[in-house]
Amino acid sequence: MGSQATVESTAIPVEKDADVVAAAARMAGEDMCSVADLSSAEVRAIMKLGHDVKRNPREYRHALDAKQMVLMFEKASLRTRLAFETGINTMGGNAIFVDQTSSPLGEREAIADVARNLERWVDVIVLRTYAHDTITEMAAHSRVPVINALSDFEHPCQALADFMTIEEHFGTAAGLNFTYVGDGNNVCHSLMLTGAQLGANVTVATPRGYSPDIEIVTLARDMAQANGCEIRLLQDPQAAAEGADAIYTDVCVSMGMEHESTKRAPIFRPFQVNEALMGKAAPNAVFMHCLPARRNAEVTDAVIDGPQSIVFDQAENRMHAQKALLLLLLGGLANVAKFSAQ
Ligand code: CP
Ligand code: NVA
Repeated sequence: MGSQATVESTAIPVEKDADVVAAAARMAGEDMCSVADLSSAEVRAIMKLGHDVKRNPREYRHALDAKQMVLMFEKASLRTRLAFETGINTMGGNAIFVDQTSSPLGEREAIADVARNLERWVDVIVLRTYAHDTITEMAAHSRVPVINALSDFEHPCQALADFMTIEEHFGTAAGLNFTYVGDGNNVCHSLMLTGAQLGANVTVATPRGYSPDIEIVTLARDMAQANGCEIRLLQDPQAAAEGADAIYTDVCVSMGMEHESTKRAPIFRPFQVNEALMGKAAPNAVFMHCLPARRNAEVTDAVIDGPQSIVFDQAENRMHAQKALLLLLLGGLANVAKFSAQ
């Protein structure tokens, strides 16, 4: 019980996939501050390439030879940092980690000036911040791609890996009923946008006053309409779980919100994912969590360690999805035989 074997990707990409090639041409040199920076076709290309990178890692061993990545993190990280570091290292590049936890970006030096320095040395800038504006400002002043590795507003790399995990489990995300229960936070925002771009029906159940940002809801609804799916906002976790194919939760106190812990704990208690809530979902439903989890707060041990949990597949796929993203933003496919062959 609990330990999950590595799941093989089920979506089989073609050798030199035309959609991936087209996305690579559009995305080279771009930033990825938000899922909203990506078209539906680009999200699908990241998925396809992520599955292929996972299946055939050796083919990408030299794709980013000598490329330099800097990671500047204002908040703690296990998965995001290591997935980026292992990801670029296994494609021939190098990662430099700068701990900004005790010196927020913009404090010692203007963000624009930091950007104008970094672009002289590195090929990509990966930021984990409090303010989302720190990321967009760095992107505005940098000539090399900037990637959002979590801000208070979004966690796009997480959501890309999560939907890659859904695809390998169910074959496709299109038409799937995806339910998020908990705080309408950064992870929730990126999941709504990614799900909408992939044609998944996304239901979000939050306590009153903790619903996702209206700007994200509007964007996600526009995307959903274009992709034949829907976004529902509820305040009843039981109704949201009814018939769901996937139930996802996250901590109710995100990094930087620790001062609200005591206030939030009782408000979020009815939103705990436990066996009773999982029992409302479809019989083959999966449980998902971005991690780190606060065990027996937002999810019980029985659920996170149970047979429906795919949380460690999600964690593994952080690396594969981020490798795909780096390949597209840094033009790495030019160094991969099957993509460069005429
Ligand atoms: N899920 C996630 O982003 O984990 P870390 O905070 O450990 O990077
Ligand atoms: N919502 C959480 C996600 C951590 C990966 C946070 O921002 O702390």
